[in-house]
Order: sequence, then structure tokens, then C-alpha cells
Amino acid sequence: MSSQATSAAPLLQASGLEISFGGVKAADGVNLTVHEGEFVAIIGPNGSGKTTFLNICTGYLKPSRGQVFLAGRDITQLPPRSIARQGIARAFQIPQLFTDHSLIDNLMLSIAARHGIWQALSPLDRPEYRAEAMEILELLGLAAHADTLTGTLPEGLRKLADITLAFALDPRLLVLDEPTSGVSSIERFQIMETLMKAMRSRKLSALFVEHDMDVVERYADRVVVWNAGHVMAEGRPAEVMQDPRVLESVVGVA
Ligand SMILES: Nc1ncnc2c1ncn2[C@@H]1O[C@H](COP(=O)(O)OP(=O)(O)OP(=O)(O)O)[C@@H](O)[C@H]1O
Ligand SMILES: [Mg+2]
Repeated sequence: MSSQATSAAPLLQASGLEISFGGVKAADGVNLTVHEGEFVAIIGPNGSGKTTFLNICTGYLKPSRGQVFLAGRDITQLPPRSIARQGIARAFQIPQLFTDHSLIDNLMLSIAARHGIWQALSPLDRPEYRAEAMEILELLGLAAHADTLTGTLPEGLRKLADITLAFALDPRLLVLDEPTSGVSSIERFQIMETLMKAMRSRKLSALFVEHDMDVVERYADRVVVWNAGHVMAEGRPAEVMQDPRVLESVVGVA
């Protein structure tokens, strides 16, 4: 019975999250659910607590109240590495690649980390890691750049390259903080197309912060609107974008 209850639980469930920095309530009673297979976008003004929420879900911040469940299991107090092992992988607002190493070396390091052999003397360049790394690079259209130093990749490809590291953790839920920020609007759609195809083929769910409303409308199953540390609206993008409160608080300042 209990295993049935766990499998029926939402993939991610956050309830009553609170956290303050000085006088600022960056999370002020956050409730949010992500179901298996969903692509959920988070929008909201600068400083409204979007990144803070991702930090709590991935273990980088501990809330003063509330809980986060992954497939029914309470992960609130787990460290980031354990949460990654449980199935939530993260790409950051600023790419985390080792810029003076090749893309495939970065990826093999991430794969090795997943296997828990993150030790100086363990060889990283193993045939099985290389094969898995190439598979991920192909999935994200980056195979031709396997030997490129990541620091020399153009911004759009570097964003995708950063996301390959999250894929290497073999997650159930991918958490992305502004995956298309800083790239041209044409490139933005190319990145999203590639990413969506890759996520579907791996049957991943995603939670992503996004400022571009066109990207949200086209790619999110559901959009959640943040304001002053809490969720002020959520629903299908086309509906939510017509909510006057949302237009005023988010679109108006975007
Ligand atoms: N580690 C921290 N220490 C102090 N204050 C913080 C910290 N992290 C976030 N804050 C504050 O919490 C509030 C929410 O910040 P957060 O980065 O979550 O916003 P955001 O919605 O991601 O903004 P943006 O759209 O600019 O990325 C802001 O007022 C921010 O200054
Ligand atoms: Mg942010």
C-alpha cells in the first residue's frame, strides 16, 4: 500500500515554504506541485523569490518553515548532492562549466560524480563514461563540440552545454534557472526546441524560470507566477497571460 501511495504522489510538492533574508521574505508561504511529465515555467518580477525557491528545492537553502517532497519523500533537509541523487538536477543562472576543459571532459566529470567516485585518483576518461557522455551530447546537438574548450563556446551553446551536465545526473526533474537568458531571440527558440526534444526523449519533467513570455507560451504546460515570495497565479500560459494582475506585475515590467 505504502509504495502505491508513493508512486501516486506528485513528482515534486512544496508546501508552506518560508525563508527570510534580513527583512526580506524571499519565500512567504510557497505552495507548488509538479506532476510527472510536466514542463512548468516560473515567471515573476526581479527579486520575487524565484531562484530562492529553486535553491530550496535543490537543497542549497533550508526553509525556516515548510517542506519539499520528491515523489512523496521529504527531501527538505537533504544536502544538494543527495537531492541530485534522488532525482533533481539543476542548471544555474550562470553556467557552472570548467571553462578551460573540453565539453566531454566536463561531462565525464559529471557522470563520474553521479557514480560517487569523485576522487583525485579515479580515472575520469573511461570508455563507458565517454560513451554515455557522447550519447548526451548527441541528444543535445553538441556532439561536434565534444572536444571544444567550454570557455570558447558561444553563449547559446554554452547554455546547452551547462544543461548537459544536469542530464548526466540522470534526473527525473530538471530545474533550470533562466535557460535562455542572454541569448538572441532566434537562438532562444533553437535552444528550447533542442531541450524540449531531449527532455521528452528522456521522459523528464522540468521546472524552469523564464523571463521570455513567448518561450513560456510555447513550451510550458503550466505557468506559475511569483510575486513577493509567493505564488500569485498559475494555470495554462494562454489563460494566465490574460490575468490583469499578472499583466501588471510581470509583463508590465518585463
Ligand atoms: N543568499 C541571500 N542572502 C540575502 N538575500 C538574498 C539571498 N538570496 C536571495 N536574497 C534576496 O531574496 C529576494 C529574492 O531573491 P531571488 O534571487 O530569489 O529573486 P529572483 O526572483 O530569482 O530574481 P531575479 O529575477 O532577479 O533572478 C531578493 O530580495 C534577494 O535580494
Ligand atoms: Mg533569479
